[in-house]
Amino acid sequence: MNELDTLVDNARAAFAKASAPADLENAKAQFLGKSGRITELMKGMAQLSVEEKKSRGAAINVAKQAIEAALNERRQQLADEELNVQLRAEALDVTLPGRRRVGGGLHPVARAQERIEAIFSSMGFDVADGPEIETDWYSFTSLNNPPNHPARSMQDTFYVDMKDEDGLLLNLRPHTSPMQVRYAQAHAKKYAGQESMPDIRVIAPGRTYRVDSDATHSPMFHQVEGLWIGENVSFKDLKVMYLDFIRAFFETDALKLRFRPSYFPFTEPSAEIDIMFEHGPLAGRWLEVSGSGQVHPQVVRNMGLDPERYIGFAFGSGIDRLAMLRYGVNDLRLFFDGDLRFLSQFQ
Ligand code: DAH
Repeated sequence: MNELDTLVDNARAAFAKASAPADLENAKAQFLGKSGRITELMKGMAQLSVEEKKSRGAAINVAKQAIEAALNERRQQLADEELNVQLRAEALDVTLPGRRRVGGGLHPVARAQERIEAIFSSMGFDVADGPEIETDWYSFTSLNNPPNHPARSMQDTFYVDMKDEDGLLLNLRPHTSPMQVRYAQAHAKKYAGQESMPDIRVIAPGRTYRVDSDATHSPMFHQVEGLWIGENVSFKDLKVMYLDFIRAFFETDALKLRFRPSYFPFTEPSAEIDIMFEHGPLAGRWLEVSGSGQVHPQVVRNMGLDPERYIGFAFGSGIDRLAMLRYGVNDLRLFFDGDLRFLSQFQ
């Protein structure tokens, strides 16, 4: 191997050793630089004859071109490697599952409430909302449950340390029944002085409060109040309407309903509404789902209506209880523990 071939080999080896562009440029200087090996060889030709210069110069040129080719090849290699490293670092694995937000959803009790609202809306009922902090008059007295009446002890009430206009403590409403009076009053006022008034058909769902806590009672729970008042309504209407509702709610017609005599100060007569499924895990047992009754004449009067002319029917059902029956939940507290393992099953 002549010295020029050796030089080219050495240059290739030096370029191969350079692992970064800066190293490669240093290696280049050794061979192609101003005082590099090729330049030295060129200078060394000064003493040669013209003929010798020609052949020697051509040979050196061939070597020089070979070294330049090796240099460019190595430059390209290093650039490719760098690009590959960069691409690998920025690589996207398009097969990875996307990062998703955990989907939220409605609470089962809220779902039940929305269902109730939708069903009653479809039957022509208005949906009303009202205050959770109530006056003594709306929670009790207007509902024919005056101070010191023993029926007041049917509900263990939370009181707020603040007095209303009558000098009585405000309360966290123990039922949604105050909304009967509030809504009917507004309705009566709206049609006051007119010859007739359209029927009052309303439900008022919402939170209610009692000093009570066990597997089937929670200090905060939900009720839906229903009221239908007109000149021509009867218990039959209440029964048909409630049966329609409950069948729609549970999505089955294989369900019976009965009225069982009861007592509430604001209705006379009063009844508990029980239902019985004909199929399924709850079949064959009467289940209490609601209080109901014909609105007491004194309550009709408190609404600003003439009890000689208007007659009304009301009910108050536990939304949590309906949700428990619908979803097969046996402990009310599960609804309020906020445990996502339970709640996410309803999405
Ligand atoms: N307010 C009653 C309760 O909380 C439920 C109730 C009973 C409501 C009879 C009514 C009714 O409207 O007519 O226990």
